[in-house]
Amino acid sequence: MFQPAHPGEIEHAARLLRAGRLVAFPTETVYGLGANALDAEAVARIYTVKRRPATSPLIVHVASIEMAESLVARWPEIAARLAQKFWPGPLTLVLEKQLEKQLEKQLEKQPVIPAIVTANLPTVGLRMPAHPIALTLIRAAGVPLAAPSANRFTELSPTTAEHVRRSLGSDVDLILDGGPCQVGIESTVLSLAESKPILLRPGGISRTELEAIVGPVASAQEVQAGAHPSPGLHPRHYSPRTTLYLAKNGKLPDQGQGIYLQHASPPKRPDIKTIQMPTAAADYAAALYEKLHEADTANVDWIAVDLPPTAPEWEAVQDRLRRAASNG
Ligand code: TXA
Ligand code: MG
Repeated sequence: MFQPAHPGEIEHAARLLRAGRLVAFPTETVYGLGANALDAEAVARIYTVKRRPATSPLIVHVASIEMAESLVARWPEIAARLAQKFWPGPLTLVLEKQLEKQLEKQLEKQPVIPAIVTANLPTVGLRMPAHPIALTLIRAAGVPLAAPSANRFTELSPTTAEHVRRSLGSDVDLILDGGPCQVGIESTVLSLAESKPILLRPGGISRTELEAIVGPVASAQEVQAGAHPSPGLHPRHYSPRTTLYLAKNGKLPDQGQGIYLQHASPPKRPDIKTIQMPTAAADYAAALYEKLHEADTANVDWIAVDLPPTAPEWEAVQDRLRRAASNG
């Protein structure tokens, strides 16, 4: 049983963040490894602890639309519409950053996101998480929080506090426990920094849901290769340590012992331990990392995943499974 974080603990966490320390916290998608997004030194520690290349930008978490607006050069109408519909929630909006140059003219001092947060890009990814602990924490800290998923680079994302503990251990100053994450896969990343919206990472909000609000959404792959720092450029991501196969029609490796995550097709080898996955896409996503973590700690030769359908609502799950299986 988990111990939900209580107000005193969140206050303590907020003090740590203001002092430049790292706090892991729950969101509705996955656990985040948070630092004060305005503190370049604290953010540098995130990259060190995660062993993450400095070329991979971090998402900045906010607790209000006003906070988001204060960090960007412009808050376009399309951002307002999307935030109105999906925030708080699993959608990250990539927008043009507020720069110091533009601020010189202004009398009021506004916060500026340091270059290290955005890997020197002129844009910033912003998201308002739909988790009471995350929102209370950001408000208590009084600053936006830079937070990647709270796992080492390329490893599986954590959906429980225990996953964070196993991956990062004492490298994190405090872990707030909010129980298992409800959405279970990362947020959708949508760029609004170009002339049309571009889907950089499928996630908790589906392409269909986005298109109902903003019309057609282009995919990062359709956009000129190399021109965008797309997450798709990191093929091996979200991977268990154990070799992962994508199985069709229940066909499994002939050799060794493994675990089979079944969606619809029963395994061709009856001697293999089988975990039945939820059949609906959202329930499947919520269970996916938990089951992969479980299989990964079972000391088997391989994990095989029964490929779910390719229908639109499965886009994010398909994306994560293909990356988890990549040996690139
Ligand atoms: O659900 C989530 O988004 C979780 C929770 C903790 O909020 N966070 C998360 O962070 O997944 P991370 O660092 O594991 O993934 C951030 C993704 C990366 O793929 C990165 O390339 C993209 O967001 N990203 C962030 N800022 C960007 C920017 N300015 N331009 C393009 N992509 C950006
Ligand atoms: Mg991650």
